[in-house]
Amino acid sequence: MSSLSPALAAHLPTGMLADGQWTAASGGRTFEVVDPATGEVLFDVADASPEDGRRALASAADVASAWRGVAPRERSELLRAVYERIVARSGAFASLITAECGKPLAEARAEVTYGADFLRWYAEQAVRVEGLVRTAPAGANRQIVHRRPVGPALLITPWNFPIAMATRKIGPALAAGCPVVIKPAHQTPLTTMLVAEVIRSEAAERGLPPGIVNVVPTASSGDLVAPLLTDDRLRKLSFTGSTAVGRTLLQQAADQVLRTSMELGGNAPFVVFADADLDAALDGATVAKLRNAGQSCVAANRFLVHDSVAREFAQRLADRFAGLRVGRGDVDGVDVGPLIDAEAVEKVAELVDDATDRGAQVLTGGGRPDGPGTFFQPTVLAGVDTDARVVREEIFGPVAPVVAFADDDEAFALANDTEYGLAAYAYTTSLERALRVGAEIDAGMIGINRGMVSDASAPFGGMKQSGLGREGGEAGLEEYLETVYVAL
Ligand code: SIN
Repeated sequence: MSSLSPALAAHLPTGMLADGQWTAASGGRTFEVVDPATGEVLFDVADASPEDGRRALASAADVASAWRGVAPRERSELLRAVYERIVARSGAFASLITAECGKPLAEARAEVTYGADFLRWYAEQAVRVEGLVRTAPAGANRQIVHRRPVGPALLITPWNFPIAMATRKIGPALAAGCPVVIKPAHQTPLTTMLVAEVIRSEAAERGLPPGIVNVVPTASSGDLVAPLLTDDRLRKLSFTGSTAVGRTLLQQAADQVLRTSMELGGNAPFVVFADADLDAALDGATVAKLRNAGQSCVAANRFLVHDSVAREFAQRLADRFAGLRVGRGDVDGVDVGPLIDAEAVEKVAELVDDATDRGAQVLTGGGRPDGPGTFFQPTVLAGVDTDARVVREEIFGPVAPVVAFADDDEAFALANDTEYGLAAYAYTTSLERALRVGAEIDAGMIGINRGMVSDASAPFGGMKQSGLGREGGEAGLEEYLETVYVAL
């Protein structure tokens, strides 16, 4: 049985939200949300249809002008109040994340802190949108440049960080003055729906427009999203998910030339140079690989380790992984939770098999533990061929392939040998080498002697096929603003 408290379970919204009201989906259709650690059905949730999607967009469009007219200070105070309410209920949010996503409670608590922080940060940024007044160079007139909200935004969020990926989009959108329609992942809609409920009730208490936040959970994402992207009331699409789906959405969004923000796949290299502090590198590697059981687009995907320390690094990482406890996230002492579903386990198993077929050795793990749930053992592979799928594809699981390199140039060439460019990590005690990493590795985010880069106040995003635009920091707000130039 899930460990959700009966009080939380009794008050969770399970419908769709439009016009400030939670209702059933048309036709009363629902889909099941399942606990990946047990296979238990947690809730039946409204399965919004394309028609429901249009209703939610109409709700957002109806309040776009009113929301744009609300003073930045009021938008800021709404976000700050929602931040405080989420922090006050962080235990409830964490247990919900663990129930629907599987990650251990300690990680879920950390995600609530991280996720709430986007609301605090954008509460602070809402009142700092800047413009410009200057005399034109020819001296004949003035130029006034000001910013205004893009308009109704569709936010499509993934299942791996159910609160943080929602607030990272909702925070800047509302701060900028854009009403939103959120389409949460069908595996983990409940946490996002609870966030939306906090915003809805706080907005209602403040007399703010009811339709600023709308939610359309659905099991048929493509059917719901495609017509919205061709509806001229929509002006913005923000998506976090795979590069393959991102490409399709970009093609659909081209029809209306929508503003788009795309946080797509990654294949982060984790580079350990010969001069690295190996204990620190092992700590960083464990975090960078095993946060959410490796199911993150910034997870370390490939461990590139200098020849002189590769064997020692791989063996010591394997010793650490072997000592970790895999299990249900709500059980004390569990370090690694389940993967999201059976398909994810299947894919990770295929990648490991492909690597071993090409000669890799399994130093620890390599398979599924016995029992229910969709688990995979923390795994370290040594001597991995650089053409192995586990090196070339995004793993999204707790598998660490180790590849040795001979010198810095080879490390940089291997690191950049991918169509992705999201995150990278490097361990070195040389400042000069660290600066070179920043200059040579093609990635939007680089952790030096750190296994974690995520921060609400920093620009999160990638280059190459890892996406377009940034979320978080000052840049995250820009994604929801238009620039208007007035020649006076
Ligand atoms: C992601 O995996 O998409 C986001 C992870 C993070 O924000 O740290």
